[in-house]
Amino acid sequence: MPQNLAVRGMNRILEAGFESEDDRILSPALTHEDEDNENPLRPKRISEYIGQDKVKENLSIFIEAARLRGEPLDHVLLYGPPGLGKTTLATIVANELKVNIRITSGPAIERPGDLAALLTNLNQGDVLFIDEIHRLSRSVEEILYPSMEDFAIDIITGKGQMAASYHLPLPKFTLVGATTRAGQLTAPLRDRFGVVLRLEMYTKEQLKIIIERSAKILKIKITDEGALELASRSRGTPRIANRLLKRVRDFAQVLGGGAIDQDKAKLALNKLEVDELGLDANDRRMLEMLVKFYNGGPVGLETLAASIGEEAVTIEEVYEPYLMQIGFLTRTPRGRCATCAVYAHLGIKPPASIPEQQVLLD
Ligand code: ADE
Repeated sequence: MPQNLAVRGMNRILEAGFESEDDRILSPALTHEDEDNENPLRPKRISEYIGQDKVKENLSIFIEAARLRGEPLDHVLLYGPPGLGKTTLATIVANELKVNIRITSGPAIERPGDLAALLTNLNQGDVLFIDEIHRLSRSVEEILYPSMEDFAIDIITGKGQMAASYHLPLPKFTLVGATTRAGQLTAPLRDRFGVVLRLEMYTKEQLKIIIERSAKILKIKITDEGALELASRSRGTPRIANRLLKRVRDFAQVLGGGAIDQDKAKLALNKLEVDELGLDANDRRMLEMLVKFYNGGPVGLETLAASIGEEAVTIEEVYEPYLMQIGFLTRTPRGRCATCAVYAHLGIKPPASIPEQQVLLD
């Protein structure tokens, strides 16, 4: 493509504007609505939790074994893309163990003293859930090590000659850590988790069951086909499925009442600019940029991020997992590549070289 045309094309893509991550209906990030611990859609017991069969099977055994021994459960690390139910699982672990849970996150624990306060307020066997655990500061992480391993912390007060050290025993607790980026965890922290579980994206069929369960709880009528339509556009993520269900209910209510059938679901989702594959305007613009401006790649993550005015980490954690799952994007040693499927979806003729680009990194 001649450079001036390419630049014009790029400007057009950019002019269409990007919604910030928080405004996207398809954002897997938590909103206040999702976060509410009284959220009736959150399953409370492992038997109500749909999908993640391997994780559930293993967790059930470890929970039962800990209960039989009368010991706290070993520390658990949950990792995987956002919105797959890590907080929900941590709450379920606490419910199954019949203990209390304290929920916090890496960025919220600013100083070692904040962590010490949390830990000393736990009861024997309690679950401490730290979301985004990869974002703990080094100084906080350092007091987490002895807390996890020896259930004790050493606190130093004062300076110079006035300095004093106290050895503070802690109740035996279970740390459940959650991260979207297991690779960013330091090795000493990762090694202190006895149980490491990876959450997978949900299939359409699993999401359909989750949507039907949520619809029942919210007293929303939905047909089989309506639920499947929603499930197909929820990008493998229950949090998005539940959010779409609530928004589609609004459309169905205002536009004529009655059950959400396939037609109503399609109409509402089209109005929300969520396409048949669950891509929104942001995904489509990123893919357009990749195929039109970078010839389908390979293009480096940072370059792609800069050219669409998005953070590299958002592309990596929010856009890419789903685009890779549906076979739209590959990560190659030389950068990100669009596959033939992207061209077909956007209605653009692919260049002849495209199959070579589909080499996966690992
Ligand atoms: N709501 C969110 N995630 C869920 C799951 N895995 N099972 C049931 N309901 C859910």
